[in-house]
Amino acid sequence: MGVIIITGSSGLVGSESVSFFSGLGKTVVGIDNDMRRHFFGEGASTRSMVSLLKSRFPNFVHFETDIRNRVELENVFREFNSGIECVIHAAAQPSHDWAAQEPFTDFEVNALGTINMLEMTRRHSPKASFIFMSTNKVYGDQPNHLPLIERETRWTLDAGHPYAQNGIDESMSVDQALHSLFGASKLAADLVVQEYGRYFGMNTACFRAGCITGRNHAGAEQHGFLSYLMRCAFTGTEYKVYGYKGKQVRDMIHAADLARAFHEVFQSPRAGAVYNMGGHIHANCSVLEAIRACEERVGKKMIQAYVDGNRRGDHIWWISDTRLFQRDYPNWHPAYDMNAIYDDLFAGLLK
Ligand SMILES: NC(=O)c1ccc[n+]([C@@H]2O[C@H](COP(=O)([O-])OP(=O)(O)OC[C@H]3O[C@@H](n4cnc5c(N)ncnc54)[C@H](O)[C@@H]3O)[C@@H](O)[C@H]2O)c1
Repeated sequence: MGVIIITGSSGLVGSESVSFFSGLGKTVVGIDNDMRRHFFGEGASTRSMVSLLKSRFPNFVHFETDIRNRVELENVFREFNSGIECVIHAAAQPSHDWAAQEPFTDFEVNALGTINMLEMTRRHSPKASFIFMSTNKVYGDQPNHLPLIERETRWTLDAGHPYAQNGIDESMSVDQALHSLFGASKLAADLVVQEYGRYFGMNTACFRAGCITGRNHAGAEQHGFLSYLMRCAFTGTEYKVYGYKGKQVRDMIHAADLARAFHEVFQSPRAGAVYNMGGHIHANCSVLEAIRACEERVGKKMIQAYVDGNRRGDHIWWISDTRLFQRDYPNWHPAYDMNAIYDDLFAGLLK
């Protein structure tokens, strides 16, 4: 029986991927050391997800391994060896802002952890698909130099610009931009994943995602914007809007749709592929629009504060052009639009 290794298996993307691939009857090997708790505190811990996934899926095995630890990783890979059909690498230090607090930790988890996973895969199961969760932050603040126009609730892109109709594609430069240390460590990882595809001919794919969301997110102020926002609305916690008048735009993809995209790649892999991935023009919102939608679900006004000054390098407008992925994998269609996403986040809190 095929083995799927998933790092960050207790986090948002990892846990949806565990559910999806376990549902196909695969042996799913999760790797997660609950480092999210170290990054964002007790409320962001993903440990309870381990027992939930174990109780749901008898074919799920969990290792509390740190992806920085090559000796322990080697033991996991040696155990499953050539049975490994696919590696989904979703463990990370995922926050822009947090990275500057501990630059070594950020770089070691994001960049070193990724080459560790690639090299283990090359040594033990070189034919496996290697799917890496990259980020749109590899483009740094490049999108902020686009000709943006202010509207009532959001920034939009000048209608004449080539990105206006379908969002930003993979041709955007990754150079000469402010990335944050997080963007830089993820870009290092993204490049090395591409290189294992090109240099060694391995089946690697990078997904450069906009915002990913879903009820499994342990949202925290520094990471997991929409899940955190819905939780603040629900619990009556103050939500701070950082800069850009709250009109900054993000596209949103549900992690379950992402897991189905991984499955497409797994079925028909390519070497060194890079895709922008997100809610595209079908699922995006500004912070102000998201606040309104969360208030509607919860049925009360949010407590808000406005901080005059944006997060450093934060995108003003990001919508992913997903057409390259859809050209390569025409069977994939996301199931969640914005309303379905808000409903799912709210329903997750009512449980
Ligand atoms: N959520 C988003 O909006 C978003 C957007 C773009 C890209 N991404 C990328 O997608 C991936 C998954 O994001 P997510 O939202 O699921 O994050 P998450 O924080 O919910 O999950 C990541 C998991 O990795 C684990 N982890 C962290 N360091 C580890 C280590 N050293 N060893 C083992 N496990 C470790 C954490 O404990 C956590 O459970 C990340 O690479 C992130 O950069 C996320």
